[in-house]
Amino acid sequence: MALFDLLSHWVGYAIVYLFLLIAVAFLAGCLYIKRIHMKYDHIPGPPRDRFLGNGLVSATNHEQWYKQRRIMDPAFSSLYLMGLMGTFNERAEHLMDKLTKLADGKQEAKMLQLVNLVTLDVITKLKPRNRPLIKEVREACRLLRSAGAACISERRTAVQNGDDVPKDILTQILKSAGQEEEMTKEDEDFMLDNFVTFLIAGQETTANQLAFCIMALGRHPDILEKVQKEVDAVIGMKQEISYDDLGELTYLTQVLKETLRMYPPGPATTRDVSDDMTIAGVHIPGGTIYLFDSYVCGRMEKFFKDPQTFDPDRFHPDAPKPYYCYFPFSLGPRGCLGQKFSQAKVVMAKLLQRFEFSLVPGQSFEIQEIGSLRPKGGVVCDVKHRGNNKM
Ligand code: HEM
Repeated sequence: MALFDLLSHWVGYAIVYLFLLIAVAFLAGCLYIKRIHMKYDHIPGPPRDRFLGNGLVSATNHEQWYKQRRIMDPAFSSLYLMGLMGTFNERAEHLMDKLTKLADGKQEAKMLQLVNLVTLDVITKLKPRNRPLIKEVREACRLLRSAGAACISERRTAVQNGDDVPKDILTQILKSAGQEEEMTKEDEDFMLDNFVTFLIAGQETTANQLAFCIMALGRHPDILEKVQKEVDAVIGMKQEISYDDLGELTYLTQVLKETLRMYPPGPATTRDVSDDMTIAGVHIPGGTIYLFDSYVCGRMEKFFKDPQTFDPDRFHPDAPKPYYCYFPFSLGPRGCLGQKFSQAKVVMAKLLQRFEFSLVPGQSFEIQEIGSLRPKGGVVCDVKHRGNNKM
């Protein structure tokens, strides 16, 4: 009996210790995950490789964000964007070459995939395939960062050698990390954060906007015809599109804006409100994270009449401006830095100038939500050269 008492006593202790151990391990696990997120991403989920880190989009420290934003802002001025027209034209020509090969009417063109190639040639070719998703994502992150490290190092060597370097985003990224002789590991990581940030923030959003725009035009032949007429009148047979031409393409601008109302590639954003406030008589409690959904607002009858109808005339220059209910690029100081980046307009203008496209019947027009919005069916088209406009 005494032996039984002793044993049950010790087993009781062992169970209590075991529970304590599990609780401590669980707590340590939680703290570890929290630390990894604070350090790398601020996005919930299992620990992962560093992705956007403390780059412009994901920086949560105001000072750190402000310093970067001040350095990056000039790279997005109109003057700088004018200087980029050559690059936009050249990149868009790559897509036109690919479409020319598909315009024999025998092959279908997967437009989402093709518009992604305009800006992501190398990366998509290298992307690992047929791997389990987590492994694939992890390898893609590593690949992006190692490709970024190579680009940065090449540019830094060029700067150090006094070579002529373009005043582009990469040069700004180098500036954002300071120009110390000795770069710390932290500086290097920071530059890579911004390299990946700009690639993701600018490339995928623009590609999805283009694909949605092609999908919407394919479903509305009357609007397609109208925008094609405008492009013919403004661009004619010219190969090189100028900055001034872009300003004259007002109906195309309306089409692109309406595309973003119905299909915002970055559908929502969050803001951390630390203190209580009252806006227009509505009390906003502090200590809360608020989600602002551009997709939902864009489809509310309260803000847009007949919201499920694709109607570019909502954005006619004489129409009343939407008031804080249309924000595909977000609003305020953390709004999109690249919203005046006119690559999408150049690509659409060239596409409309040279090709007829029609949606292959039977495909889905659903939207896929994976953080960003993209057309689920991939926008598969039959493409043909436009009658008298073979370039
Ligand atoms: C159709 C195209 C695009 C859409 C729909 C879009 C959308 C957005 C949205 C909604 C945000 C705000 C995120 C937030 O509030 O948390 C944002 C931020 C940002 N975008 Fe874009 N974007 C586009 C193109 C671009 C391009 C082309 C670039 C650069 C080349 C770019 C660079 C950035 C950067 C750096 C930020 C962070 C700004 C900051 O926090 O200071 N975006 N974008």
